[in-house]
Amino acid sequence: MNMAAGNALGYEAAPAFSAPLRFFLTAPLFGVLAGVLLLVMPELLESRWTPGALALTHLVTVGFMLTVMLGAMFQILPVVAGAPIPATTVVATIVHLLMSAGAVALVWGLGAPAPDVLVIAVWLLGAGCAVFFVAAAIALLRVPITQATPRDMRFALIGLGIAILLGLTLAMIIARGLALPLVPLLKLHVGWAWLGGVGMLLGATAWIVVPMFQITPPYPAALTRYWAFATFTTLLIWSATVMYELTSIEFVIVIALVALAGAFIGNTLALQRRSRKSIPDITQRAFQLGLGSLIAGLICILVSYHSDSPLWPVLSGVLILHGGFISVMLGMLYKIVPFLAWLHLTQAGVRAPNMKKLQPDAPVRKQLIAHAITLAALIVATLGVSAWAGRIAGMLMTIEFAWLLNNMINVIRAYRRAGSA
Ligand code: HEM
Repeated sequence: MNMAAGNALGYEAAPAFSAPLRFFLTAPLFGVLAGVLLLVMPELLESRWTPGALALTHLVTVGFMLTVMLGAMFQILPVVAGAPIPATTVVATIVHLLMSAGAVALVWGLGAPAPDVLVIAVWLLGAGCAVFFVAAAIALLRVPITQATPRDMRFALIGLGIAILLGLTLAMIIARGLALPLVPLLKLHVGWAWLGGVGMLLGATAWIVVPMFQITPPYPAALTRYWAFATFTTLLIWSATVMYELTSIEFVIVIALVALAGAFIGNTLALQRRSRKSIPDITQRAFQLGLGSLIAGLICILVSYHSDSPLWPVLSGVLILHGGFISVMLGMLYKIVPFLAWLHLTQAGVRAPNMKKLQPDAPVRKQLIAHAITLAALIVATLGVSAWAGRIAGMLMTIEFAWLLNNMINVIRAYRRAGSA
């Protein structure tokens, strides 16, 4: 990380290394499980409605993505938003245990399907999220909202909270026959999770992280000032059109949401083109792959409104989740983990080795290439070319996430070696 830019951040407030790290090391294990599941059941990409497909989706979304996001927030809230989480280590331990066990139960309950296990998942995930959101709210309420990142972090956390509450409600509808309408709530769950939670969190973090990591000019002031508010408000209006079944207005609002997502993506890509880095580093490439996939995924969503083919929703899921969000998260993980190792060594008074020594480029490049090949294989498998395509995609996915775990463990090994030298 660029140290001049780094002076703007509150590193002295950084939590113990173990707080975010336990999440970062757990997440790839869920990715490996997702790969193994697809390897064994390649037909899961044929339709979004099978129990197996729901299990696969949540191995990726809750097991990998939510776990990475929670871990990152233990770091981002104090350092980037100036809002340290109270009793960080205790909160991180409780949240990590409840959410990991809850993710396993959710996937099992959805996939088996096993209603009683799904209810256990609701309790575990509900408790884990409650602890996290209360702690994050206490942290954020203590800081003034003069800056874009802490303000938009509140929108993102509320958006994520709404998505999770909807998910827990859906689980209770399935497991206990709660008398609520499943289809509109499912639509809202997916919309709020993708744009209200993950998308807005990405935006709030990007305002600071993209100019800093990728040495670009800042985002346009109008975008950082209004984007999260406009997105949040439009999501609320969209939710009303879904609940009241105002189908034709709904499509117009969906176009507005896609335009808002496009404004964020377009501005980020434009800024990256103005990066002062002579050669774009490999994580910047991961970002570009992610943003390109998000655009393709959004187009598939628009097409899915006018086509009954089961292909479009699955393809949008593959492009947005694996191609979009996971690519960006990989790019961020490869910046955050070695930087934290370096920071904690330095704070402990140890002469820390260069970050390239803690995490050499070659294994990162190879893992990201494996990730891109996996995405291509997933797309081919979704197009239904052959049953083997699904198995190959599953095998590649298993390899890519095991490789990610291995790369991160190697950073921790280098950190330990430097610390004991
Ligand atoms: C932690 C709490 C979560 C719970 C309890 C949960 C629960 C559920 C349930 C029960 C369904 C299935 C509804 C049905 O059968 O009709 C569902 C669908 C879905 N969820 Fe979640 N979810 C959670 C988090 C997330 C997150 C964080 C994301 C994305 C970032 C996500 C993405 C999806 C998607 C895309 C579907 C639709 C699956 C499909 O179309 O194949 N979920 N969720």
